[in-house]
Amino acid sequence: MKSKASAPGKVILFGEHFVVYGVKAILCAINKRINVTAEKSQERKISIKSSIGNLALEPNKSISEIDSPLKPFYYLANKMIQNQNNGIKIIVESEIPLGVGLGSSSACCVAGAAAISRLFGKISKEEILKLAIEAEKTIFENTSGADCTVCTYGGIMEFDKESGFNKIKSKPNFHLVIANSNIEHSTKSVVARVREFKEKNETQFATLCNYESELVREVLGLLKENNVKELGEKVIQNQEYLETIGISNDRLREMIQIGLNKSFGAKITGAGGGGCIFALTDESNLDQTIMQFKEKNYECFSVKIDFKGLDTF
Ligand code: MEV
Repeated sequence: MKSKASAPGKVILFGEHFVVYGVKAILCAINKRINVTAEKSQERKISIKSSIGNLALEPNKSISEIDSPLKPFYYLANKMIQNQNNGIKIIVESEIPLGVGLGSSSACCVAGAAAISRLFGKISKEEILKLAIEAEKTIFENTSGADCTVCTYGGIMEFDKESGFNKIKSKPNFHLVIANSNIEHSTKSVVARVREFKEKNETQFATLCNYESELVREVLGLLKENNVKELGEKVIQNQEYLETIGISNDRLREMIQIGLNKSFGAKITGAGGGGCIFALTDESNLDQTIMQFKEKNYECFSVKIDFKGLDTF
């Protein structure tokens, strides 16, 4: 029997990094997915095949000894085959560019947790999310859990570490243009850099957290009104806070300027240090914004909100 699951990637619209320190963030799932197929095997081995490489190991290895971006899958499979005689084969297919802040690793954890655990029986979305966050922690221990949450439930949501998520009911009519810097980044190391910034600048960081909370509060009102133009101004303001905590660089700043030529606002999304930015548009300036990036030879594409979240087959 094969078990299949698919989960969407994500964009953090507002509040990345500050969410790690308890501030509310606003995220949405996007219409680019990770598909995972899992199957029990006679051979007592865990094997994973993906476009970024393969991994085949005996069960019960120590996670800290595994040096592979595929280790969340190993963790999940190994957990599930305790007290069993078989192994597991996993195939991962991705429509999401990997490691660029669009939630590829969270979507892997969510789709992996669903596909693998369903080989052994029924499981709720809440339990899948819990497993996915455990698996994500094998590569990035201090995760806020925001990314796995939106990849599980889809749509657009507010999230904070203490109260969890709350779906935003309005269906905003904006479009996001994503541009990729093609600079690889590690969420773990950028989050560690922000922690250093915070430790050196406690008062300034606390003030920024307050500003970000206030901004998110205003954004929630603007989303209800579908006020894309003013939302763009909030995007620009949020980018200033991200500049202050040191997760930007010259390439990202150049891309944001290109985005600002025609869109309502542009900012880094996700950990920063590399990865992607997004520009906020509506129908009136979507094509022109894409053209701006294409003229400068940046890889770019537009995404829509995915309202489905995790899907299982
Ligand atoms: C990464 O996509 C988002 C961060 O806020 C980290 C986290 O929330 O765990 C940078």
